[in-house]
Amino acid sequence: MNILITGGASGLGEAITRRLAKESTNNVYFTFHKSVTNAEKICADFNNVTSFKCDFKDFQQLTSLIDTINQLDLDVLVNNAYNGYFLTSHFHKISSDHILDDFKDNIIPTIKITQSAINSFRKKKSGKIITILTSALVNVPPIGSSIYVANKAYLEKLTKVWANENIKFNISSNSISPSFMMTNLTADTDERILEQITGSHPLKKMLSVGEVAEAVFFFTRASPHINGVDLVINAGMHLR
Ligand SMILES: NC(=O)c1ccc[n+]([C@@H]2O[C@H](COP(=O)([O-])OP(=O)(O)OC[C@H]3O[C@@H](n4cnc5c(N)ncnc54)[C@H](OP(=O)(O)O)[C@@H]3O)[C@@H](O)[C@H]2O)c1
Repeated sequence: MNILITGGASGLGEAITRRLAKESTNNVYFTFHKSVTNAEKICADFNNVTSFKCDFKDFQQLTSLIDTINQLDLDVLVNNAYNGYFLTSHFHKISSDHILDDFKDNIIPTIKITQSAINSFRKKKSGKIITILTSALVNVPPIGSSIYVANKAYLEKLTKVWANENIKFNISSNSISPSFMMTNLTADTDERILEQITGSHPLKKMLSVGEVAEAVFFFTRASPHINGVDLVINAGMHLR
């Protein structure tokens, strides 16, 4: 299988890249921006992995990445990259320019990359789209997370549109909504908040990136009958 993971050199993306690269029949491609050393290390560790450096905020670089994607004969796209912060500030204090910028930096690249993948999937009448969302969509959204959660909510709806519009071409679209994990995205979280998160967690421990990578692996092999599904990985916290 030819698989592309966006943001595949750090955090959850790195765990996904490494998990999928363990399958020798996979050709794994990943994009990275700042994690140059990690990207080199991953490519040195596996001979079925290729990396592409791209800053999604740079129009030229994104256009050139999409030209490359069009040549890859992809079977699976994993939308994982996120450029921005999990927590910013209270909604009423955020400027509309800030909201628009975050939308442009995150949603537009995901849209362009997914459109390119869908065009190629439709030609071969097969493909899978796996999009990483967040369990904050089903839990109470944390204070200060409005931009992040709203961007993810926009993608959540798109994953359903992709599922509905493309299943007749044997293309499925599913998503995964993980709870809090320790990565660069959450690295600035205050120690006391981390203690609270663990203390109130039903399993008394945080989710690991490896556990989510296993779920991505499952979706890469799943039947297209599994379509339009969001897999929430939060130990059932939203049921409380
Ligand atoms: N951590 C959590 O608690 C949590 C919970 C639920 C969902 N998620 C989701 O999991 C996914 C991965 O996040 P993470 O937690 O692993 O955080 P992360 O380590 O910060 O990952 C973000 C990824 O996006 C890439 N990226 C950022 N800015 C970019 C840009 N301008 N151009 C291209 N790529 C860019 C980064 O690449 P470089 O490192 O190469 O710059 C990185 O690989 C995200 O979709 C996030 O929303 C995370």
